[in-house]
Amino acid sequence: MDLIESLMQDAKRDKKRIILAEGEEERNLVAANKILKEGIADLVLVGNEAKIKENAKRLNSDISKAEIMDPNTSEKLEEYVKGFYELRKKKGITMEKAEKMVRDPLYFATMAVKNGYVDGMVSGAVHTTGDLLRPGLQIVKTAPGVKIVSGFFVMKVPDCEYGESGLLLFADCAVNPNPTSEELADIAITTAETAKKLCNLDPKVAMLSFSTMGSAKGELVDKVTNAVKIAKELRPDIDIDGELQLDAAIEPEVAKLKAPMSKVAGKANVLVFPDLQTGNIGYKLVQRFAKAMAIGPICQGFARPINDLSRGCSAEDIVNVVTLTVVEAQRGI
Ligand code: ACO
Repeated sequence: MDLIESLMQDAKRDKKRIILAEGEEERNLVAANKILKEGIADLVLVGNEAKIKENAKRLNSDISKAEIMDPNTSEKLEEYVKGFYELRKKKGITMEKAEKMVRDPLYFATMAVKNGYVDGMVSGAVHTTGDLLRPGLQIVKTAPGVKIVSGFFVMKVPDCEYGESGLLLFADCAVNPNPTSEELADIAITTAETAKKLCNLDPKVAMLSFSTMGSAKGELVDKVTNAVKIAKELRPDIDIDGELQLDAAIEPEVAKLKAPMSKVAGKANVLVFPDLQTGNIGYKLVQRFAKAMAIGPICQGFARPINDLSRGCSAEDIVNVVTLTVVEAQRGI
C-alpha cells in the first residue's frame, strides 16, 4: 500500500472536520464528492449556498452531507469578527476593517479553525500561497514550542536507495524566504518530529550547504553551521548534522570521505535547505529529473493544520491534501 493510501485509511478511522474556503470552485466540489463518499473527512464548504449547489449539480457532485457556510449570512459572522478584532486590535485594526476582512472566505475559514469549529483548513486552488498563509499566521499562529510555520514535501523517488528506500522529507520548500539560523534550527527540529509522526521514520536530519564540515567558508555557510549548533543544543536527542553537501548527506561512500564521524552523513532521510530558493528549486529538480512523487507542500507548525494547494492542482490533489490535513489534525503536526 502506498503512503497516501495508508494515510487515507488512517484518516477514515478518526474522521476530522475540514473547511474548504474555496467552496464554490469546481475542483473543490469534485474532490468534496469523493471525500464525503469515501468518508475521509466531514466537510464545511465556504461560499454562496446557491452557487455551491448549482455548481455541484452541474458537476454531478453529491455534497449533500457537507455543511455550507456563507460568511455574509452566517450566524458565526459576529463571533468571528469580534474574535478577529480582539486578536488584531494591537496591530491597529478597527471593528469596521475587521468585519470587512472576515467576510473574505479565507479569513472567515481561518477564524473557524481558530475557534475550533473545524479541525483544519485546505485552500489555494484559486488563491496564492501568501494569501492563504497570511491569515493563518495572523490568526491561528504556531503550535506551542514551535517558532515558525514551514512547508515540507514528502518525496518518494522511484528505484532509489537514498533516504528510506527513496522516501525523504524536504524542508522548507514553501514558506520562509530566508530563515535565520534560529529559524533554520526550528525548521530542522519540526521536520524531524513530522518525519516521525507522519512517516514513522527514525529521522536523520542533514542541514544542507555547498560546504561539508568546514570545507568552505563564508556567511552563507556560517548560517547553516550556527543552525546546526542551535538545533543540537535544543534537541540533543535528534540526529541532526551539518553543514553537509547533498552527496555527503545521502551517499555512504561520499560520507565516508567527507564526514566520516557523522551519524547522519550518508544516511539522511530529512533534508533541510538553507533558504526557500534552494528548497523550492531542489524539490522540483528531484520531482522532474528523477520522476519522484512530491506530496506537498504540507504546512507544519500551525497550532491547527492549514494547508495550501497549488493553483494548478487537480481534484485528486485536493483529496490527498485533505487526507493529509486530517492526519495532521489526528497526530498534532
Ligand atoms: N511562521 C510563523 N509566523 C510567521 C511566519 C512564519 N513562517 N512568517 C510570518 N509570520 C507572522 C509574522 O510574524 C506576522 O505576525 P503578526 O502580524 O502577528 O506580527 C504575520 O505572520 C504576518 O507576517 P508578514 O511578514 O507581514 O507577512 P508576509 O506578508 O511577509 O507573509 C508569508 C508571510 C506569506 C509566509 C510570506 O513570507 C510568503 O509569501 N512566503 C513565500 C510563500 C511562497 O510564495 N512560497 C512558494 C510557493 S509554494 C510552492 O511552490 C510549493
